[in-house]
Amino acid sequence: MDLSDHFERPRLAADIAQKLVHGPASKVIALMGSRGIGKSTFLRQEVVPAIRKLGALVVMADLWGETEKDPADVVTGAVQKALDANESIAARFAHAVGLKGVGFGGLSLAFDHGEAREKRGGLWVYRSMEALSARMRRPIILIIDEAQQMLATERGDSMLYTLKATRDLLNNERGLYGVRTVFTGSDRTKLLMMLGGRHTMYSASQFAFPELGADFLQWVRRKYELPPSADDALLERMFQRAESRPEVLMDAALRIALYGQFEGVSVRHAFERAVDLRLARVHQPFLKAMDPLDPIDDAVLRVVAANPSTIAGFDSRTMGLYRTVVQELDPEWNRAPKRRDIEQSLKRLTALKLMWGSVLGIHMLADPTLAGAMRRAGLLDIVPEIPGRQWPDADEDMDAFIVPSSGAASQTSEDASSGRLAPVDA
Ligand SMILES: Nc1ncnc2c1ncn2[C@@H]1O[C@H](COP(=O)(O)OP(=O)(O)OP(=O)(O)O)[C@@H](O)[C@H]1O
Ligand SMILES: [Mg+2]
Repeated sequence: MDLSDHFERPRLAADIAQKLVHGPASKVIALMGSRGIGKSTFLRQEVVPAIRKLGALVVMADLWGETEKDPADVVTGAVQKALDANESIAARFAHAVGLKGVGFGGLSLAFDHGEAREKRGGLWVYRSMEALSARMRRPIILIIDEAQQMLATERGDSMLYTLKATRDLLNNERGLYGVRTVFTGSDRTKLLMMLGGRHTMYSASQFAFPELGADFLQWVRRKYELPPSADDALLERMFQRAESRPEVLMDAALRIALYGQFEGVSVRHAFERAVDLRLARVHQPFLKAMDPLDPIDDAVLRVVAANPSTIAGFDSRTMGLYRTVVQELDPEWNRAPKRRDIEQSLKRLTALKLMWGSVLGIHMLADPTLAGAMRRAGLLDIVPEIPGRQWPDADEDMDAFIVPSSGAASQTSEDASSGRLAPVDA
């Protein structure tokens, strides 16, 4: 059994790194892909080292990594980390060219004057990025994971303006070495809301995040020494059933490897059951968080989840739905909920991270995949349908970041990556 737990795509990572470092820097790259398909892991473990190998600097902020912090502070922390990591190198450079005392520490201290570390704002980020570029003399790749969170707070929103100004400075000023911004996330609607509306000046190109493919499935088969009946077609179906989540497929495959022969059913049945069980566990914590909700909060969550756009509405039809559902959940509710009731519910649900609130005044389901889980659990059965509401298309209509060259299915993990960048303007 192969003991490594991570399937690597070194050529793909190198290719992406190459395009990020040497491609035109003016446009933001928006990389979108659904939940749990391995975006953050691939970026952190493979793309970032590949970028560094090419000599560029990386500033990476994971806005879901530190959910208790304001997104603006997460960005500031990421810049600080880059300063810390490069301070001694910058000092050596300075020493080599006969300068003294121009390390980042001095710069940081100058800006820290009267400014508590956690209150550092846009100007500090702007100046620090300028110093990083000037002293290190290399391009910077700024990666913001779950970038839609920038819209969740006023300070995050204003940090987006700072990052835009920083980009313009680093890309246009002589003596600076440019910055390329990459926004990633699982929520296409929110990211597009951010890039296509309020922050259009970012001028983004959007791509589908490269999902794991046939070579990963072959690796899984070898790793778990699966029986021959777990052929290519079955593994492909199971991966689809697992919503392209590597963790779900791998856990199910392990179960088949360990207990498959004792289950008394075909490998296909056992596999399906294993995937379904594992997938149900993904959403369990959220569904559990719904148990103690007030009937009105519960009703708002269900109505929003049943709405294809997953945006909380206040139109009269939606207000009617809140009323119907809350009365179904609690017959004691003998009045129509008012707008204020709904707004307060949305606030409570946002605090519980079941809902996403934004500076745009819009509330949406925090995780759109929760809607599917709620539907499967039968929680949306009591929400009457509004005729004519259409579910939006999934990610399939988006171009791939790297288009694989022909015959991808027969390629090894080494060459599955060769391809070209195919941008679509947002
Ligand atoms: N190449 C890989 N090989 C094996 N396991 C992987 C691979 N990539 C990701 N995983 C596993 O899948 C799980 C989800 O990965 P990750 O968090 O990177 O996905 P994501 O797309 O960023 O998810 P989210 O939408 O929740 O942010 C993790 O447990 C990770 O270890
Ligand atoms: Mg992630």
